[in-house]
Amino acid sequence: MNAKPRSLRRRLTLTLIGGAAVLAILFYMVIRLYAQQIAQQSQDRILEASVTSLLDAAVVRDGQIELDVPYAAFAMLDTPADDRVFYAIYQDQTLLSGYAGLEGATAQTRRTPAFSTRDFAGAQVRVATVTQTLPANPRPVSLTISVAQTRDSLAGTLLTISINAAVFGGAFFLLAAGMALWTSASTLRPLRQIAESVARRGPSDLRPVTRTVPTELSPLVSSLNALMTRLNLSLTQSETFIAEAAHRVRTPLATVRSHAEVTLMRVDKDENRQALRAMIRAIDESSRAAGQLLDHAMVTFRRDQLERQDIDLVAICSDIVDRLTPVADMMDLDLMLVDQGPVPVKADPILIQNAVRNLVDNALKYSPPDKVVRIIVACDPDPTITVTDQGIGFPDDQIDMLSNRFQRGNNVKDTVGSGLGLTIAQDVAEAHGGHLELKNLKGGGACAVLHLSH
Ligand SMILES: Nc1ncnc2c1ncn2[C@@H]1O[C@H](COP(=O)(O)OP(=O)(O)OP(=O)(O)O)[C@@H](O)[C@H]1O
Ligand SMILES: [Mg+2]
Repeated sequence: MNAKPRSLRRRLTLTLIGGAAVLAILFYMVIRLYAQQIAQQSQDRILEASVTSLLDAAVVRDGQIELDVPYAAFAMLDTPADDRVFYAIYQDQTLLSGYAGLEGATAQTRRTPAFSTRDFAGAQVRVATVTQTLPANPRPVSLTISVAQTRDSLAGTLLTISINAAVFGGAFFLLAAGMALWTSASTLRPLRQIAESVARRGPSDLRPVTRTVPTELSPLVSSLNALMTRLNLSLTQSETFIAEAAHRVRTPLATVRSHAEVTLMRVDKDENRQALRAMIRAIDESSRAAGQLLDHAMVTFRRDQLERQDIDLVAICSDIVDRLTPVADMMDLDLMLVDQGPVPVKADPILIQNAVRNLVDNALKYSPPDKVVRIIVACDPDPTITVTDQGIGFPDDQIDMLSNRFQRGNNVKDTVGSGLGLTIAQDVAEAHGGHLELKNLKGGGACAVLHLSH
């Protein structure tokens, strides 16, 4: 089972965006924490000043603490949010003035009050508490002062800072996400460009990739180039092999055939003559197959390296008619060229010749004597070469498969053939941007049309 392909680009984008999100959240939390600390510090400093000024106002008279609460001690705690302020003054454990139950943590020294946060009177308050021992007769007295302030203003400031931090964090995230998209696209662009340039190539273009690529991609490109070199080599080798093999098979076959024919003339016994005829036929089949294989290999090779030249289809067909007329005459067939002047196209003349020769060869092979085979060259508006005959026609039920490799029809009787002629014609048409059309004529006979493009 194949694993689902994973997109590098998606992975890169998600990683970068995920990183940006984590950073944005961290940024928000750090700013909030820092702002909270600063805001708390400034509230604490004012509470400390307030509690210190109260402490400074305390005097001991006859062993009793007297404290004239200075106005400034509370005025300095005014805030835009109208925070409430509470205080409590204790001599030893006795409340002298203020709110009972307010005392916070016990302070150790005079100048450093102890701070605590707690609920009081239905709100959260910050409490600063200072304890100081004052000299008195008959024994020193302990003075504890607590000043508390609600935290509305602080919460307001914190909220504003949090909103700003969230806005900045969000903006940072959006920017980073945009950059992540751009970065992943631009990082993977060279890879996509190589893929596109290789995909754009023709099927036979096995040149090495020469474009400059990022160092990370050079191993991939080198392996690709090495693969293409090997592929090119093995393709060329197999082309040469097929061509050579066909040649080597055909020559000795021709020799064997002529020996067999000479022997046939000398032999009288019927069964020997039959055996020799079968032998000659087998030789013909093999020889035809070798020839067609050779042509097919050549067509395949040239199709991949198509050399288009300015040619006239009528001239090419007329040449074929000239060459095949003696063959047609031997079969008592009439071979005709029908045209209305030159049809110029840009095409490979050898391939076109090969295709038309195969179509005409079929028309001659599958027609009874005394019939006409026509080659009609037209341009309507695409160039076409139509070969018609007045023979048995294509087998209707097989017409779609006849151009497959080695496919012969059930109408061939004992005609020699290898089933490659229509394959060759179709390959040639496709190499020129066209197709091969096969149909039967109403009045009988086959019609093969080679559609080409300019
Ligand atoms: N003009 C035609 N009339 C009737 N049948 C035809 C005609 N041309 C082709 N066919 C049918 O199509 C089949 C395939 O043709 P194709 O040319 O590919 O092979 P082939 O003629 O049998 O062998 P070869 O490769 O030697 O040409 C033939 O075997 C035959 O059945
Ligand atoms: Mg044929």
